[in-house]
Amino acid sequence: MTQQEITITRPDDWHLHVRDGEALKAVVPHTAAQFGRAIIMPNLKPPVTTAAQAVAYRERIQAAVPKGMAFQPLMTLYLTDNLPADEIRRAKDAGVVAVKLYPAGATTNSDAGVTDLRKTCKTLEAMQREGLPLLVHGEVTSPEIDLFDREAVFIETQLVPLRRDFPELKIVVEHITTREAAQYVRAANRFTAATITAHHLLYNRNALFLGGIRPHYYCLPVLKREAHRVALVEAATGGNPKFFLGTDSAPHAAHLKEHACGCAGCYTAPAAMELYAEAFDQADALDKLEGFASFHGADFYGLPRNSGTVTLRREAWTLPETFAYGDALLKPLRGGELLSWSLS
Ligand code: NCD
Ligand code: ZN
Ligand code: ZN
Repeated sequence: MTQQEITITRPDDWHLHVRDGEALKAVVPHTAAQFGRAIIMPNLKPPVTTAAQAVAYRERIQAAVPKGMAFQPLMTLYLTDNLPADEIRRAKDAGVVAVKLYPAGATTNSDAGVTDLRKTCKTLEAMQREGLPLLVHGEVTSPEIDLFDREAVFIETQLVPLRRDFPELKIVVEHITTREAAQYVRAANRFTAATITAHHLLYNRNALFLGGIRPHYYCLPVLKREAHRVALVEAATGGNPKFFLGTDSAPHAAHLKEHACGCAGCYTAPAAMELYAEAFDQADALDKLEGFASFHGADFYGLPRNSGTVTLRREAWTLPETFAYGDALLKPLRGGELLSWSLS
């Protein structure tokens, strides 16, 4: 008989964007309703580059958590060419859990990112020493490299040497999108892990062009061909603790996505677990969802697993088409459509 419901330990989101100001107030409740904790990306304008800024940002997020919901934001710093090595100690003492590498120009708000990894040696050394993970947006930015190859080329030209220079630095390859990335992480040492989004498990690049251009399916790294999606599903549903949940839910005002030069990022927070359940169900692997969503990430970060549970039911409901987003509108991925799983 087909499984009608599944109860799992309360999950965490190991890769999330919540922005700031009115946008933050609009999106934090969606994540807090689903997850116990989330790793908050630091790509604000200007980016979060000091322990003090991370602590202040954490307070703004906590203030946006609805009463009665227990949700803990886990903070990160944004790596720049000149993030001082001694900020790492202060960050760790302030409860910051990781540092994020954006190659300069690779994605939304990455202008202040790293231009050359060699410039960050001292800081990476401090992170390795303190056991503070490096979270990586793994794409090269060279305009001559085909957009669809940028992740695979990053692994070859940046990640392999980085790993050689820092054998015990904890590295999370964020939002992996290719077979090459899944293979790299599987074969790498125990200090290496990866997050996988729900949209990269559910869609291939055809979704971007189905009957016309579909800006709400546009994110970075961009969706890839079907063979890559299949490899990601295998990685996520295989029970391997190196792979865990990271939604990369990345809100942008609808008018800035439906634009001549549309922003990159899919907003999945309002139905994140429902989308993951759909992907795991399609792969006949609902029994592997709990490890992926609730155990592997906490274990890798050396944090306790959550207590409490959530239940997903096979029960169709329609995801709202839009949410208020300050003065603008926010359109979630699959908004206005029927979802087959619901979270209670
Ligand atoms: C993210 C964003 O909008 O901040 N966008 C995206 O397409 N994933 C940035 C990122 O995670 O690369
Ligand atoms: Zn990214
Ligand atoms: Zn992201």
